[in-house]
Order: sequence, then C-alpha cells, then structure tokens
Amino acid sequence: MRLLAIETSCDETAAAVMNGTQLLANTIATQEIHQLYGGVVPELASRAHVQRLVPIVQHTLSQAHLALTDVDAVAVTYGPGLIGSLLVGVSFAKALALQLGVPMLGVNHMEGHLFSTNLKPAGPEPPFLSLIISGGHTILTHVREWGQYEILGQTQDDAAGEAFDKVAKILGLAYPGGPAVEKLAATGNPQAVQFPQARLKNTPDSPRQRFAFSFSGLKTAVLYYARKLSAAELEKQKADIAASFQFALINALVNNVALAHEQFPTQAVALAGGVACNKTLRHAFSQFSASRGLQLHFPEPIFCTDNAAMIARAAQFHLANGKRSPLTLAPVPGLVLS
Ligand code: KG4
Ligand code: ZN
Repeated sequence: MRLLAIETSCDETAAAVMNGTQLLANTIATQEIHQLYGGVVPELASRAHVQRLVPIVQHTLSQAHLALTDVDAVAVTYGPGLIGSLLVGVSFAKALALQLGVPMLGVNHMEGHLFSTNLKPAGPEPPFLSLIISGGHTILTHVREWGQYEILGQTQDDAAGEAFDKVAKILGLAYPGGPAVEKLAATGNPQAVQFPQARLKNTPDSPRQRFAFSFSGLKTAVLYYARKLSAAELEKQKADIAASFQFALINALVNNVALAHEQFPTQAVALAGGVACNKTLRHAFSQFSASRGLQLHFPEPIFCTDNAAMIARAAQFHLANGKRSPLTLAPVPGLVLS
C-alpha cells in the first residue's frame, strides 16, 4: 500500500510517502517566519501551511517517483496541535481521499512520535517505555502493545522543549532554543550553578501522573539567577548557565524514567520528540540504559522533530489492522494519547 502522510500540527509543513514500512520520500518545510517573533504565531502558521502544502506534497510524490493517482491511502495528523494548522492538513487530506476514492486515516501526533523509533528495522518492540520530549509535550508512556498505551506521567507545567526555548530567550538566544542552548552548553560547566532539579509531583492516585514532570521551577530559577547579573556578567556566565540548566533538566528526566522502570521493568527504553536530538541527553540516557542492561532507542534527529514519516509509520500499522476514519473527521487540538 502506497501511503501519503501529511503533518501540519504546528509550524512544520511535512509530507511523506511510504510503501509497506519502507519510507520512499520525506519532506519537511520549517516555517522560519516564527523566529522573528520568538515563538510560533498560530495565524501565520496556518497561512504558511495553506501556501506550502500543495507544493510540498507534489515535491514528495516526485521524490518517490509516484503520481498522485498512485496513492492508495491518505493519512493526516488530526491532533493534538494548533486548530488552524490542523484544519489545513485535515481538510486537504479529506479532499484528496474523496477525489482519489481511497481510504483516509487521522493519526494522533503523539502516537506518531511513539512510532518514530520504528522507521528503521530494529526499533523497539512492545512492551517498552517511551519518553516523548518535545516543544509541547513531555510524556512518559508504557507501550504495552502498539495501539495500547498507558501514560505514566506528563508535565504539569512547561514541556521540556518549552523550558529549553524559554531559557534560550532569557539568555538572548534565537528560537527554537533547544539547539542554541545545547551548542552554548557545550562550552560551559554543568556544575557551575546548582539549579533545582525539576520537582516531581507524583500523585499515585492518578495513574497518568504517577511519574509526573515539572520544569517551570527550573526555568524560573534560571530567570531569577540571570536577573541578578549585569549584562556583562550574564554574557560571561551564559555558557555555564546553559550547561547547568541542561544538566538539571536531563537529570530530572533520567531520574523519573529510572523510577518508572523499577515498576515497569521493560527490556527497552525509547526517546522521541525534538529534545531527543540533544546529544548530552542521549549520552545520559545511554549511561542509564547501560547501567540497567537496557536497549536504548532514539530516532535520527530528522525524525525526532515533527515530520510526516512518523505519521505514515503509525498509519501503516492501523491501516493494516483495518482502521479507517470517516470523511467527517474533525481536528482535535487537545487530543490525548490513548
Ligand atoms: O517535536 P518537536 O519538533 O515539536 C513539537 O511537537 O513540539 O520539538 C520541538 C522542540 C523545541 O522546543 C526545540 O527547542 C526542542 O524540541 N529541541 C531541542 C533540540 N532540538 C530541538 N531541545 C534540546 N536540544 C536540542 N538539540
Ligand atoms: Zn511533535
């Protein structure tokens, strides 16, 4: 089955073509306009999707050496995400499926991230623990089976990527902040400032928050520390602050996964989402996994950040199991993983 997948949940306009589980083409157009505003401007994101989606799909099909009429099914992200952005992708996918007379499937963006580690052959097989760390989400999931997810903990305030982006702003770095903070941190001392480890608010009575995350305290601690410095001192200490912040955030993530793994002793742990590009984080998780004899999986950086290949991979699983969406499908901005 030749599957065309569309992803427009935030500020990436993306399309991918997959045949079986083989990825034939993958295109991602990042909307750079948001850099001017230091964050995603929803109205501009929707407009850019409207302008770009058709050429991106045409380009992706030509990369796969396919014509539009060769497409056997259409998959699209229908949530979570920005409503205007989701509407562009969902409306486009429905129109295409209607015109071609092929099945259409709405995919949960977070489930796409879960499948992103399985775009290559030797990905993790359930049961495993997956940590999705992105700009909008921090979710620790026990993947019991593909399609059966038990959320063990989520952030109670800022997402891990959001904390990177906000700290980047405090340090005067460009958006998106994660890569900029990582680059600066590489030249700093992670022990220079003892920032508080992100506080865990485990609530055993709420299954979805047994292993909760919290990063706003850490971000505020960085803000207060930076505020006390003169411009010249801040410039001098910037790299140390970035390294110390990154150290505290990564430690909090590893510690929570370590706690969860004691209750859910799976053979494998997977990382996904934009923050999983971070090399220091990958190294910390490699050390943790080695210490417990676990397999560690993470996607190539291009499949960590938002992309349509992961949407295609998730859709491929569900379509093979007979799942279809009606052409009345509506986007769900707050869609949860279930
Ligand atoms: O998964 P993603 O592309 O979008 C969402 O679904 O949110 O993640 C984007 C987030 C941004 O917050 C960005 O700053 C962060 O991932 N990020 C990083 C790195 N690369 C991207 N954070 C830390 N280190 C990185 N190298
Ligand atoms: Zn994402």
